[in-house]
Amino acid sequence: MDGFGRIIRNLRVSITDRCNFRCTYCMPAEGLDWLPKTQILTYEEIQRLVQLFVRLGIEEIRLTGGEPTVRKDLPSLIRLLAPLQSEGMKSLSITTNGILLDKLAGPLAEAGLTRINVSLDTLDPDKFHQITRRRALDQVMSGLEALERYPSIRPIKVNVVAIRGFTTETDVLALAELARRKPYSVRFIEYMPLDADGNWQSDLVMSGEELRQIIDRKWPLDRVAGIDPSSTSVVYRFADGRGEMGFINPVTEPFCATCDRIRLTADGQLRTCLFSIDETDLKTPLREGASDAEMESIVRAAVWLKEKKHKINEGDAFQRASRSMSQIGG
Ligand code: 5AD
Ligand code: SF4
Repeated sequence: MDGFGRIIRNLRVSITDRCNFRCTYCMPAEGLDWLPKTQILTYEEIQRLVQLFVRLGIEEIRLTGGEPTVRKDLPSLIRLLAPLQSEGMKSLSITTNGILLDKLAGPLAEAGLTRINVSLDTLDPDKFHQITRRRALDQVMSGLEALERYPSIRPIKVNVVAIRGFTTETDVLALAELARRKPYSVRFIEYMPLDADGNWQSDLVMSGEELRQIIDRKWPLDRVAGIDPSSTSVVYRFADGRGEMGFINPVTEPFCATCDRIRLTADGQLRTCLFSIDETDLKTPLREGASDAEMESIVRAAVWLKEKKHKINEGDAFQRASRSMSQIGG
């Protein structure tokens, strides 16, 4: 629990800062200065920490990056973590750009993955290339289709970041149509100031409400009530019953008051907020042989100080994060 009484149930673990995409809002074309391998937690170290967190009450584990599937033999990490279900872990998921899912969906399902989020910002092949700097739309679509064959990984969520000037009404409707045609839950996420290049401006944010209206004009949407209060997305069902859509509105409707998340960076730093300025080093005590009890008290003390909300910075609705999204883990 943190000092504001929030119960923390959700841990996101970045397992690499590397990525095989170069989304323009996330990193420059040449990539970033990658963390040296020795700084990155090993699978065994991740397992020890995640187990500790699960024993402290964490129920949802999400592996992120960078791109988690570029780390060697990801299924073996899933296999190490899956048994934590017997200690209280309720879900084990990844956030991925989807490019390797064609091959990995089966092995991940078999290893014990339970949920997945695939990032996909447009269904137009040229615009996909423009935003990710990779010609890979077809491969991501086949990756999504591969997931349909593994019912143990559900739901299949598709995350879309909408950016004014890039995302058009045509993109929004095509993604809504995907949600109607396929068993995917498509969710729009408001663009947050987490970019590597400092290009974020508040007028680039397309609000969830604006996006919802674009879709509602073509396919009326009904609000779905009673979703878990710590859920970040507002869910709507198509009135004609064909699928659902979600809107994650961190900019226009901050959900800090019900935030139940903390993050672990690939180099073993605990971050209690996406916008944290400082972090708590878990790697050093871990590598110096700290006991479980010692690690636990470090974690409890850091979580107790979890940020109440983002600070307001001149002009910006948000404080900028002190690390890029690829190091924090989306
Ligand atoms: N704002 C919102 N979402 C972002 N992502 C990356 N950068 C941002 C940003 N500035 C998303 C990616 C992916 C997930 C890991 O985070 O598109 O869906
Ligand atoms: Fe890679 Fe995700 Fe960043 Fe795109 S947003 S470059 S897929 S880490």
